[in-house]
Amino acid sequence: MNHLIAPSVLAADFTRLSEEFDMVNNSEADWFHVDVMDGSFVPNISFGFPLIKAMKQMATKPLDVHLMIVNPGQYIEEVREAGAEVITVHFEACTHLHRVIGQIKATGAKAGVALNPHTPVALLEDLIEDIDLVCLMSVNPGFGGQKFIYQTLNKIKKLKEMITVRNAKTLIEIDGGVGLQNAEKILQAGADVLVAGSSVFQAERPTEVISKLKAIGKQTWYV
Ligand code: DX5
Ligand code: ZN
Repeated sequence: MNHLIAPSVLAADFTRLSEEFDMVNNSEADWFHVDVMDGSFVPNISFGFPLIKAMKQMATKPLDVHLMIVNPGQYIEEVREAGAEVITVHFEACTHLHRVIGQIKATGAKAGVALNPHTPVALLEDLIEDIDLVCLMSVNPGFGGQKFIYQTLNKIKKLKEMITVRNAKTLIEIDGGVGLQNAEKILQAGADVLVAGSSVFQAERPTEVISKLKAIGKQTWYV
């Protein structure tokens, strides 16, 4: 499968959000990554439903909504109604993860599970077949612009092996500190989706960065 690029709108300029959305709409990006933070699960607050709904209207590509909130099961239907195609909840925030995955799928959205850097991928062994996407956090969630934690590469390999052995269809998404400097290594380790916030939106030519991220691993022919 060709890998997917999901620019994280947390790093966008909110004073000109519709231009930022147009840039992504007209780029080679595949999804919009949308970070919801509640100030409790993570030490930061981002935005909620009114803004997700507005984003849905501006986006011509799917919204990949990453819920960094406690009790995410309480809000699944509302997140779906706001326009999410992929809904990702944190393993660490769910006492009944299997139930929440079922809840997400019942809305027709794809079900994602995110793991904090300290959470071992082995904890997903008994439900990997039910999960559409695993989001491995490569920074401690809560803020954009942090440094990639390199141990994530080992987690990607372990998770990829688990998925292959089980013959599951689960996608591996990497979130935090991803950019042109490390994307190739991340993809070689087995990632399918790259979330990129500051490396895209803070670049002088964001569309070019997206194209370059998208082109990694594709054969280049010189004549
Ligand atoms: C971190 C968020 C990330 C963040 C990525 O808590 O989940 O999606 O926006 O931003 P960068 O790419 O700047 O690390
Ligand atoms: Zn995220």
